[in-house]
Amino acid sequence: MSWRGVIREYRAFMPEIKESAICTLNEGNTLLLEAEWLSRRIGNNLKIYLKFEGQNPTGSFKDRGMTMAISKAIEEGAKAVICASTGNTSAAAAAFSAVADLPCAVLIPQGKIAKGKLSQAIFYGAKVMQVQGNFDEALDVVREIGKNYPVTVVNSINPYRIPGQRSAAFEVIDQLGGLAPDYQCIPVGNAANIVSYWEGYQQYRAAGKFKNNLPKMLGFQAEGSAPIVQGHPIEKPETIATAIRIGNPASWQRAVQVVKESEGLFDTVTDQEILAAQKLIAHTQGIFCEPASAASVAGLVKKAKQGYFKQGASVVCILTGHGLKDPDSAITDMPDPYVIQPDKQAVLKILGLN
Ligand code: F0G
Repeated sequence: MSWRGVIREYRAFMPEIKESAICTLNEGNTLLLEAEWLSRRIGNNLKIYLKFEGQNPTGSFKDRGMTMAISKAIEEGAKAVICASTGNTSAAAAAFSAVADLPCAVLIPQGKIAKGKLSQAIFYGAKVMQVQGNFDEALDVVREIGKNYPVTVVNSINPYRIPGQRSAAFEVIDQLGGLAPDYQCIPVGNAANIVSYWEGYQQYRAAGKFKNNLPKMLGFQAEGSAPIVQGHPIEKPETIATAIRIGNPASWQRAVQVVKESEGLFDTVTDQEILAAQKLIAHTQGIFCEPASAASVAGLVKKAKQGYFKQGASVVCILTGHGLKDPDSAITDMPDPYVIQPDKQAVLKILGLN
């Protein structure tokens, strides 16, 4: 039997939902790669695993929560859905609502979302509105509309998004053969995903699916968009990792609680560290993730250099989205391709074979 999406695969762990309301793209079941080459580069005898969420149908982890949010919207008879987004939520919302035949409005910060994500939202047929402001301001507008009009908000403040996203933690445990990793590194933007994993691990452990300790949760923010690390909202967040360009995360308090309970930490990574990690992941393991996703590995590299990890520990890094969503930022500091005549000699010269 092939995979049937996260609601049906983890039915006992999901909020109740009528079978006829389920809207799925068969999301989930993404690769957990044992990253042997990356582990060798980082040292400390770490056993590093990469959870590549770019393999989801719209290319990011957002599909896990969106299947739940849109299915519930169908069950509850919603007439339309709306979200604010740095790009990936809008792509997922647009895709699932297209399948559900629900009108979908997405508000995105003008000029600050990756082209791949913008083209997805447009192509799936959402009403795309570019806001002359940042994500936090767009989310304020969405909250107000959700409160006062018959439109379902499908941002992570929707109560069904986080339960859907917990499925990723279930998969990690299942893929590790019923063991939790010692540490988990994850990028943090609006801070819902770090909460989702933690709740997922707790839920699975309570059900007896694993018996070792819960992982320590390590959340990484981009240096120019690090409200949680700095301890105050950032009015004008900046980072090349536009997916996590967020100055006032909706799940801030819960995320702080998660890190405390798990005895983990929050830290920052610079844009340079993010781009270097993105390249390292591609060159050692052949995975192309988007810049925000690489913040998890940038954080791993930073903490390993500081001697933070126990020798031989297992670490899962979450690669939240696909690199093809944002090729422009990936190649900003890369050399331009060679331009040559259609001529054998020119090719040989570049290869040093003439
Ligand atoms: N990585 C990617 C690729 C994302 O798109 C996001 C969030 C995150 C990490 C951070 O996850 O917000 O749960 O802490 N993107 C949202 C969006 C905000 O609108 O697509 P978080």
